[in-house]
Amino acid sequence: MILHCAHCQKTHTIDKTRIPPNITLVRCKYCKKLFPFTESSPKIIPEKKKVRKLGVTLSKGGVGKTTTAVHLAHGLALAGKRVLLIDTDTQGQSAFMLGVQPKAGLTELITGELPPEEAYFQARENLWLLGGGKSLAGVKRLIQRKDFGGEHTLTEKLDPIADQFDYIIFDTSPGWDPIIVNVLFFVTEIIVPVSLEVMTLQGLVEFLKSFSAIQKYNKKLGLKYIIPTFHDKRVRNSATILHKLQELYGDHISQPIRYNIKLCEAPAYGQTIFEFAPNSKGSEDYKELVRLVSGEDIHL
Ligand SMILES: Nc1ncnc2c1ncn2[C@@H]1O[C@H](COP(=O)(O)OP(=O)(O)OP(=O)(O)O)[C@@H](O)[C@H]1O
Ligand SMILES: [Mg+2]
Repeated sequence: MILHCAHCQKTHTIDKTRIPPNITLVRCKYCKKLFPFTESSPKIIPEKKKVRKLGVTLSKGGVGKTTTAVHLAHGLALAGKRVLLIDTDTQGQSAFMLGVQPKAGLTELITGELPPEEAYFQARENLWLLGGGKSLAGVKRLIQRKDFGGEHTLTEKLDPIADQFDYIIFDTSPGWDPIIVNVLFFVTEIIVPVSLEVMTLQGLVEFLKSFSAIQKYNKKLGLKYIIPTFHDKRVRNSATILHKLQELYGDHISQPIRYNIKLCEAPAYGQTIFEFAPNSKGSEDYKELVRLVSGEDIHL
């Protein structure tokens, strides 16, 4: 929250949760005078809410991108955050994992066929989905046909609605295409799931090269976490690759998501792991990821 000193009018940004109860006066750090602190004071202007924009991405297929994007989105929604999940994949797997069949999605938003509120589908409480699907192939052509500024197509459409949400999370397709470039021009943080196999490690190095090239243009873009997925203690390779990842990328490596058969089974029931098997290892691991990404002590 923002307070203005009643004497010198200087601005103070304060974390409201750190103010003890029943405080009536605060001291200005500039003019050192005491001024009244009351929540109803017209001098208190609430800080503008800032949406977090996250892309879950890696060029390699089958590493757990959709599983991670869907569970991060649903976990945050269960914690009371308003979340928009955007599927940029022609496979449209996010909707499948959530057990919903939206009639419209990202294509209609980008082509302008529908206004945003009609393009998104409420998949759960606090969770809205802009679904992917085959029609996104046409969106790629639309972006490529633009003479200039094609990489900002998504940003132009999403900027006006972004403030309605606490989080905007992207599930991206494998490979590298104009939509992924658009996602990387819009988001400020990326989360990279890496399955613990040698092939993926090579894919990660390649992907990070392309990622750095985009960072030159989107200065706010940063690598947030690399998430080791399909971790299986019984497989020796799994531990070796995890160790290698930690050596190479240190603090960026999150706690691994263990291999858990319930994560494979849940989509067939149109349920997330929090609904299908709330006490499973898969559920525990994704709850931990929700805590890590949100930076809050969330207990689902
Ligand atoms: N930790 C896990 N344990 C067991 N199975 C998992 C785990 N994570 C994901 N899966 C399963 O592995 C498969 C691939 O996962 P997912 O679809 O999330 O990968 P992806 O990276 O999105 O794939 P694509 O590149 O094709 O979009 C799915 O069937 C999913 O249910
Ligand atoms: Mg996927």
